[in-house]
Amino acid sequence: MKASVLAPANIAFIKYWGARDLARALPVNPSISMTLSSCVSETTVEAREQPGADEILLADAAGLLSPAPESFARRAAAHLETLRRELGFAGSFRVATRNRFPSSAGLASSASGFAALTVAVVRALGRDVSTSRLSTLARLSGSGSAARSVLGGYVEWPREGDDDAPAFPLADAAHWDLRDVIAIVETGEKEVSSLDGHRRAATSPHFERRLEELPRRLDTVRRAIRERDLALLGPTLEEEAVDLHLVAMSSRPPIFYWNPGTLTVLAALRDLRREGLSGWATMDAGANVHVICDPASESAIAVRLRELDGVVDVIRDRVGTGPASTESALF
Ligand code: DP6
Repeated sequence: MKASVLAPANIAFIKYWGARDLARALPVNPSISMTLSSCVSETTVEAREQPGADEILLADAAGLLSPAPESFARRAAAHLETLRRELGFAGSFRVATRNRFPSSAGLASSASGFAALTVAVVRALGRDVSTSRLSTLARLSGSGSAARSVLGGYVEWPREGDDDAPAFPLADAAHWDLRDVIAIVETGEKEVSSLDGHRRAATSPHFERRLEELPRRLDTVRRAIRERDLALLGPTLEEEAVDLHLVAMSSRPPIFYWNPGTLTVLAALRDLRREGLSGWATMDAGANVHVICDPASESAIAVRLRELDGVVDVIRDRVGTGPASTESALF
């Protein structure tokens, strides 16, 4: 009754920003992402038949366990309660988790954490659950992006016209070897959570206009993935990322996720493209810049970004295959 799982973060090409029902993470628009490979959360879950309080622990890099911080423990406990109800289980759980991100950077995404927790609980209970059901269960954590992290490769969530629908694959990881060079320009916790961002999104005068643009952007991104066309994907990827931040900056009250390092990286990337390299930027709800590029451009982009003022680290990640079981349990 114990299972250990690695689940990846993902980077959105078309963003989830704004919810019709935030408590259930029902988004206003479909989003499209690439599942990552190295940026993973690692979670061990033991299911016990006897009812009682769940135990939620955080593992450090050396594997030492300590009680999880209050805010995290509260969200995880709420999700365990949801999973107990959805899966019809009356017992209790012992959980340990950590992020295995390649640096201590401020990339901690709830997507990988809640995907790992969801998959580990299902496996600890020995349930045979479809990926679609896993996606819905992960979404019920309140982290919409977790609904995409249960799948590998290129993922859309939800199906257009049905906001309650699960994530589904557009293409698997082997279809297109894209890289993600992540320029870390900020390592702390972000000041405004994505949840608050979703809450405020519709107060921006740019919110409705972005939604009008989205059908065209979604079509372009789907076609770029199908045809493995980075020159087609890139401009739309950047346009969508800038638009997300435009909405955030013009929300009431406004949210500024960027810092000077973000702009330095964006300017350097324009120079690198003029030199013939193929890399395009996107930013989630934070200052760090994900440069989506082809394998031939990856090293040069990573080296050049690392030299910039304000860049404290560069992580090289790539498209990945989704959650996997692991033998190495955290307890
Ligand atoms: C900007 O509500 O899924 O990353 O739970 O913090 O991961 P977290 O956020 P969530 O919103 C995601 C917002 C986004 C865009 C995206 O990933 O689609």
